[in-house]
Amino acid sequence: MNLYIGADLGTSALKLLLVNSEGEILRSVTNEYPVYYPEPTYSEQDPRDWWQDLRHGIRELCDGYNKEDIKGIGIGGQMHGLVMLDEYDEVIRHVILWNDGRTDKETDYLNNNVGVKTLIENTANIAFAGFTAPKILWVKQNEPNNFSKISKIMLPKDYLNYLLTGVHATDFSDAAGTLLLDVKNKCWSKKMLSICGITEAMMPRLFESYQKIGTLKPKIAETLGLSPDTVVAAGGGDNASAALGTGTVGEGKCNISLGTSGTVFIPTKNFPEGAGGAMHCFCHADGGYHLMGCMLSAASCNKWFCDEILGTKDYAAEQTGITDDKLGKNDVYFLPYLMGERSPINDTDARGTFIGLRMDSSRADMVEAVLEGVAFAIRDNLELAKKQGITANYSTLCGGGAKSPLWQKIIANVLAIDIVLPKAEEGPAMGGAMLSMVASGEYKDIKSLSLDFFEERGRVTPDSELVALYNEKYEKWSKIYPSVKELFGKIK
Ligand code: XUL
Repeated sequence: MNLYIGADLGTSALKLLLVNSEGEILRSVTNEYPVYYPEPTYSEQDPRDWWQDLRHGIRELCDGYNKEDIKGIGIGGQMHGLVMLDEYDEVIRHVILWNDGRTDKETDYLNNNVGVKTLIENTANIAFAGFTAPKILWVKQNEPNNFSKISKIMLPKDYLNYLLTGVHATDFSDAAGTLLLDVKNKCWSKKMLSICGITEAMMPRLFESYQKIGTLKPKIAETLGLSPDTVVAAGGGDNASAALGTGTVGEGKCNISLGTSGTVFIPTKNFPEGAGGAMHCFCHADGGYHLMGCMLSAASCNKWFCDEILGTKDYAAEQTGITDDKLGKNDVYFLPYLMGERSPINDTDARGTFIGLRMDSSRADMVEAVLEGVAFAIRDNLELAKKQGITANYSTLCGGGAKSPLWQKIIANVLAIDIVLPKAEEGPAMGGAMLSMVASGEYKDIKSLSLDFFEERGRVTPDSELVALYNEKYEKWSKIYPSVKELFGKIK
């Protein structure tokens, strides 16, 4: 049977999967690399660490397998990172990562001087500090020597694909997070390139995620112990790739990831006219588009409250007191903005907030408020998408927080949709493997492959009485942030 390598180029580690053409995982290898924080708010990595881990990892992953059977490689990667190569293809400086916060000034300049209207017209998005374009402006302003050396610009996974194939390529899902792509027309925006002082010749060639960008360079194939005919797919941004693994393709779907941070990923077949702003409007790895809300603190809110405040690691024990009769009746509310927030409020000053405490408020009420606060913030994103005419009939739920049956129930009832639990959660690496199956011709269509491979483990259905209670609670919760918003800037 044909075999495929799927990779997740994450922020802390590179995870590799060896998968057969039926989607069964034969082996998995994970290697970690460091993140550097040279200054407060800075977050960087050395792309050469990724390459080293990829080479070693692939050799370990494929050891003992017949190299002729391995037909393709696909990578789902952390988005937005700025990789710059000079004319000799050497890395110019460490990569400035997606969670780096140094570009406040540049982000302000883009949103306020260039203006959100121009940004949305040209890219369907507004500037966020983590996006690539503000980073390019930062290098231009602060490291003119490095800026003058730029020959090629690429995103994290594209650097690995370039070393594998020699092809300077990217895919639309990842390119959309640069703020340099005309998302609607799927081409580089001349206007944005000129604002950033770079040329189209520096930018990678654009592909759909499931297209083949090339095959392995013969010398690289030899080092990896693979055939030079191994196909490399364009791959995708990590969220779009992970969505393929949860069947989140086409229309009417949603995938919610409750990790340290949270994402609400809603695909749509056609470009959502009028979108852009509070939620990211990106291309999807299935050839369509998606809206995405990125929440900076999700499961980490519960972890913080239990670990730091209550002093316990037993999260399940904290939730046992929150019985069904308590749901929808809590008078304590929580804003989950412990690290500021991206979507939908885009406010770096926002902070976590408890409100409504009384003398009889209990420890369990506060835990419940944290779980509900995150669920309400997820709903904020879905409400916005709804205004755009994009609705989800149900949502899959992944990530560490998805393990809590109580949180599953709260989310199902706050959102008033079924919450579906996937049998396997292999994230971007499985999506990468699936993309390589299509790129190498094993399967024709990524959408049907994504739906065929998906298996449901369980489902939580909302209860109409509880939904009504949570509708009222959500209305009240929604009034808190606008009322305290001004304060956040003043108390920092
Ligand atoms: C998406 C985002 C993160 C990164 C890192 O906009 O910033 O999901 O891709 O995982």
